[in-house]
Amino acid sequence: MNFFDYRDGQLFCEGVSVDAIADEAGTPLYIYSKAHLLERYNAIADAFKDVDTTICFSVKSCSSLGILKVLKDAGSSFDVVSGGELFRVIKAGGDASKVVYAGVGKTDKEIRYALEQGILMFNVESHAELETIDRIAGEMGKVAPVALRLNPDVDPKTHMHTTTGKLENKFGLDFQHAGEIVDNLGKTPNILLRGIHLHIGSPVNSVEPYGEAIDKALGFIEEHKDGCASVEYLNTGGGFGLFYSKENVPAFAEYAKVITERAKKAGKKLIIEPGRSIVGNAGIMLATVQYVKFNGLKNFVITDSGMNDLIRPALYDSYHHIWPTRTSTPALPGASVEGVSTVKSDVVGPICESGDFFAKDRLLPDVSKGERLAIFSAGAYGFTMSSTYNTRPRAAEVLVDGEEWKIIRKREQWEDLVALESAE
Ligand SMILES: Cc1ncc(COP(=O)(O)O)c(C=O)c1O
Repeated sequence: MNFFDYRDGQLFCEGVSVDAIADEAGTPLYIYSKAHLLERYNAIADAFKDVDTTICFSVKSCSSLGILKVLKDAGSSFDVVSGGELFRVIKAGGDASKVVYAGVGKTDKEIRYALEQGILMFNVESHAELETIDRIAGEMGKVAPVALRLNPDVDPKTHMHTTTGKLENKFGLDFQHAGEIVDNLGKTPNILLRGIHLHIGSPVNSVEPYGEAIDKALGFIEEHKDGCASVEYLNTGGGFGLFYSKENVPAFAEYAKVITERAKKAGKKLIIEPGRSIVGNAGIMLATVQYVKFNGLKNFVITDSGMNDLIRPALYDSYHHIWPTRTSTPALPGASVEGVSTVKSDVVGPICESGDFFAKDRLLPDVSKGERLAIFSAGAYGFTMSSTYNTRPRAAEVLVDGEEWKIIRKREQWEDLVALESAE
């Protein structure tokens, strides 16, 4: 079901006009649909129900407490990549004992904090990290549960910046070093090997790379049977695709088939770490047109939102459908705009960078100052990647639930941006 839709020429999120929200909350503004979030979470849970599966929502994709709380209440566990994200999960009422923690550069402080909180397991990315966890766990009189993150050297066929399972990437352990670790676990007595972890990239718009990576991981477990005897969990990471405009994204059931049949055969419990596929289309960002400028070559639609609010187009050349919130010619992501009166425009922000754009040469209805644009599919890696570059306060975030809406993150003010600084 579509929880963002046009009614009588106005964009609605569930039962609320997005303009009505922006009239009060201002722009730039992130708006999330609770119903969409829950529908996606439940769809994944359903697709993976044949196997004992722990769904660890990837906090990095959208980390506002209000979003984490909705998912926690729906039964989600969490995947974190920093002590700060673990802190957020706990603040949102999440259960630390259901948290998995990846990342190539965990600090001593973060490892200690995670051990104190009793997380489900660390996803270990190097031998040096394993030794560090072993030492700290020993000092604390604890045994640290870990999974080894394997780098299966598989091409997920996605953007180079979000490819994480090839040997040229910094992530995980190559099979030789991982093998040496599992064959020498006696040297790290404060470690309990509970799992094997993979995360090959994002978004992965086909299922074959998962099959290839998991087959390699299961081959590894087989080859190191003794060392891997305590491995209960296979964690296949996140990365399921998202429909932004025209891509063919496999259904959750298709990913689940490839993954669960392998987990079943290996007799392992599953962990998955979806982020984008749950929250990506649950969120839009609203921007207000400030100026329209034609320079003889190009038409620029200049908005009050910039790359500091949504950096994905600049970072990944990613496509976000953009359309006015009030229009006589509604068009949702993927809709054809043939026959609609449009002007080819670059949609840009106010930041002093040529990379500050949301779209290039995009066909858009003719818009003018004060009109609002919806930038769709902005729920994942949108607000979480935002910054205060150019001393721009970060956007507010709103959660819609039926006919109701609430602010889950207030708009920052200039004062907030200098609160930790001193001119003394
Ligand atoms: C270790 C790990 N797990 C899960 C994810 C979530 O990926 P996605 O949001 O594509 O599902 C990421 C994202 O990069 C990741 O690094």
